[in-house]
Amino acid sequence: MSESTRTYLPAAGYDWSLPFYDPIVKLLGGDKARMVLLDHAALRPGYRVLDIGCGTGTLVTLIKCHHPDVEVVGIDPDPKALARARRKAAKAAVSIQFDQGFGDDLPYAAAIFDRVFSSFMFHHLPPNEKDRTLRAVQRVLKPGGGFHMLDFEGPESGSHGVFAHLLHSSQRLKENSESRVLSLMRESGLADPRKVDRRRMLFGHIAYFRAVA
Ligand SMILES: C[S@@+](CC[C@H](N)C(=O)[O-])C[C@H]1O[C@@H](n2cnc3c(N)ncnc32)[C@H](O)[C@@H]1O
Repeated sequence: MSESTRTYLPAAGYDWSLPFYDPIVKLLGGDKARMVLLDHAALRPGYRVLDIGCGTGTLVTLIKCHHPDVEVVGIDPDPKALARARRKAAKAAVSIQFDQGFGDDLPYAAAIFDRVFSSFMFHHLPPNEKDRTLRAVQRVLKPGGGFHMLDFEGPESGSHGVFAHLLHSSQRLKENSESRVLSLMRESGLADPRKVDRRRMLFGHIAYFRAVA
């Protein structure tokens, strides 16, 4: 399928609801959640980092504001979200490379990133794209580079957060269970995958994962 005909699940589910995405996620505690993810990554000057599914650019802008000596790239298939991301970066007066594309078809050479991030993105992928995306992550990371991801916590079985359930189908959340994410990471060739943190947001829990290339 050509890139122009591929579909994706936008940040807030629909194009019309994109303007509400940032305020709602902020209200739910998303800014603090992303800051914790950034702390986990222990960035150093000179690093090159990639955010897959960067959406409206909140995490990449946060990274560049806290680490001006890090080269930051954000990629997302949604041109409308990328337009917002570019405006956000311009307002913060930071320089970030934004690219339009999909996580399983990253338009970058192998082994060029020190860190790859994924924030609230993984549950947007259909099951057959998850392993392909993780393989792409493994390919673009330098040996020893780290993948840092946060997302809604899916249930091993039974119940999960009401808000997450309202936003997303049970199947999408089930695909985000700890055991499923860790085994997908392992199968993609990422080393030492771990769930490193778990936090409560206003409704439901989020989980933090890391793995090494
Ligand atoms: C809930 S938003 C998260 C945005 C941002 N990372 C954040 O922390 O706010 C999920 C994003 O994943 C993007 N997305 C959906 N399918 C994707 C895919 N196959 N590859 C990369 N990004 C994708 C959507 O366009 C959307 O911007």
